[in-house]
Amino acid sequence: MSFKEGDYVLIVHKDRKYLRKLVKGMSLNIRGHTIHFQDIVGKDEGQKIGEFFVFSPTLEDIILLGFERKTQIVYPKDAFYIAFKLGIKPTDRVLEFGTGSGAMSAVLSFLAKEVWTYEADTNFYNNALKNWERFGLCYNVKAFNENFLSAFVEENSFDACFVDVKEPWEYLEKVWKVLKGGKVCAFVLPTTNQVSKLLSHMQAFFADLQVFEILLRHYKTNPERLRPYDQMIAHTAYVVFGRKRM
Ligand SMILES: C[S@@+](CC[C@H](N)C(=O)[O-])C[C@H]1O[C@@H](n2cnc3c(N)ncnc32)[C@H](O)[C@@H]1O
Repeated sequence: MSFKEGDYVLIVHKDRKYLRKLVKGMSLNIRGHTIHFQDIVGKDEGQKIGEFFVFSPTLEDIILLGFERKTQIVYPKDAFYIAFKLGIKPTDRVLEFGTGSGAMSAVLSFLAKEVWTYEADTNFYNNALKNWERFGLCYNVKAFNENFLSAFVEENSFDACFVDVKEPWEYLEKVWKVLKGGKVCAFVLPTTNQVSKLLSHMQAFFADLQVFEILLRHYKTNPERLRPYDQMIAHTAYVVFGRKRM
């Protein structure tokens, strides 16, 4: 694929990455090296232009470098494993609340047939819509600017559910009702006391409970001195799973 004006491009300079829209007359200057965007138009992805490589952004690049984050987001290191554990298939309808900045919705949208997502806060809701529109994502997402608790949702109508709110134990009965029998619900929570409280409420509604966190360690890519970076993102969230019990 070759780049056209208006495309988003991932520009890589040594170990730094930049996501930019190709707008005529614009350029990027890093440590004394400049790449002019008109020199990228018409080039194939993967090419080297001066000191820079140019690539098409992946969903991870878009979420980490392109999304405006007005809320905490689910990090890519957690997001795809959660989606895998939810067992999502291309025929599935998935429920999510709250939408937040729309990062997890974008991941769910990649894998499912349809995603229904609820966000109570109008400012966050509009920001999520803007993030998706900017990058042409989430065509199969039905977004509602509504508190999930007061939303009308048909019983037994979802194949999986993802919950990212502060007090998820308040919603368990409703989640249980709208999920199909045996299907999985995942929750993310930043603190262990929230996880304890959730677990104690989950037992009445869910079986096969699981709790874990994902630690991802990146390595410096010098083949003669292969070793991890000194610093890492140590904690994002605990992930909790359960399957709807009958
Ligand atoms: C941490 S953010 C979610 C981030 C999102 N998972 C992402 O990856 O971008 C939590 C969101 O839940 C929303 N929220 C909290 N309670 C809600 C409810 N009952 N119904 C709908 N949204 C709710 C908040 O307004 C907030 O935007």
